[in-house]
Amino acid sequence: MNFSNNVLPLFVSGEESAIAKLSDPTLIKLSIGNPPDEGFPIERIRAISERLLKDDPYSMLSYSTPGGRADLKAAVKTFLNRRFKTVNDDDVITITGGGQQAISLAAQLFCNDGDTILCESPTFMAALDTLRSMSAKLVGVNMEDDGIDLQDLEEKMQMEPKPKMLYIISDFQNPTGICLSEHKRKAICELAYKYDIPVLEDNPYYELRFEGEFIPFVKCFDTHGMVALTSSMSKIVAPGMRVGYVVAPGKMGEGFSLLKGSADLHGSTWAQRVCCELLNEGLEDELVSLRELYGHRGRLMYERLGRYCHPSVKFTKPQGGMFIWVTLPDGCDMPAFVDELMDNKVVVVSGDQFFAENGENSTSFRLSYSLANDEQIDRSCSIIGELTHKYCR
Ligand SMILES: Cc1ncc(COP(=O)(O)O)c(C=O)c1O
Repeated sequence: MNFSNNVLPLFVSGEESAIAKLSDPTLIKLSIGNPPDEGFPIERIRAISERLLKDDPYSMLSYSTPGGRADLKAAVKTFLNRRFKTVNDDDVITITGGGQQAISLAAQLFCNDGDTILCESPTFMAALDTLRSMSAKLVGVNMEDDGIDLQDLEEKMQMEPKPKMLYIISDFQNPTGICLSEHKRKAICELAYKYDIPVLEDNPYYELRFEGEFIPFVKCFDTHGMVALTSSMSKIVAPGMRVGYVVAPGKMGEGFSLLKGSADLHGSTWAQRVCCELLNEGLEDELVSLRELYGHRGRLMYERLGRYCHPSVKFTKPQGGMFIWVTLPDGCDMPAFVDELMDNKVVVVSGDQFFAENGENSTSFRLSYSLANDEQIDRSCSIIGELTHKYCR
């Protein structure tokens, strides 16, 4: 049997083995950026579902409009515009199967087989998988402490053949936790316009800021219709709802909606209705609790890494989201380091998995503090720290 070129890159991805490894209950799982069970608004979801099933069952269970329900789109618009004007009147909102689906729709919208997509280096590994499965050629752009390196970006935007899209994660980036500075957000919009390269801004962690001021989305600075923004309910309600959205200007937005409709008509009507009610009733109490939870865990992990690690180890300081990116000095054997951590029951994701190119040289790994309690954070950081002293001599 022959498999298509779409699936071949996925067979070699580390995702399957990473998931298989996680079945051991004694592991401390710092490898996955999932919300913890206690973060789900279960009672509210149950009450809304019961009420709607009693009062309006057919609208929960019937087909809805391709591209998503109008009431949910209106709720998303209000939610996104409540801090900064993000959704304009000529923007089109498409309800997607999580932000993940918006990534593949964007590649479908802008790219033909073999076209180049620029992305941060490192970036979200499941986005790399999705884009590779669509036969895109991925080119990584260097990262700095405040997000993508603009000089490298501009150089790569001038490549031949011309890149067809830029994929960026603007707040609390996966895997580095880095937040894109405001001046870079503006500059990215200008570069996108100058080189006519559309941008997909992926921002599922935006609401999880626990330090510093909220910065407007990249999309807020776009005056030329070059930026689509995707986010989802996964990190603020529950990932199993599979409700996300992409907001894009004019024809670009229409393109997303048409592609979504042709992919699977629309997402679950039930989940769309529940999310719509949650947004309309308000999610602020839940968001405050989530920010407290992640803020506590993120600060604790950062402090413990500083306490236990070898002084030559560098790690990012999270202002939100779920991730810390740890980097050992050049030449450290990262696969061996990660395997040895696993032998000690601590699971992290080796940095090489997050690079479009040359990942094998990475001496970094990603930590997520979303699922670990205080005792697990302390114990795992102490194990990590001890191992850094062995590897950084
Ligand atoms: C940067 C980024 N984008 C997109 C996703 C996909 O999220 P979902 O499809 O659940 O909205 C994730 C999930 O971890 C992520 O980290």
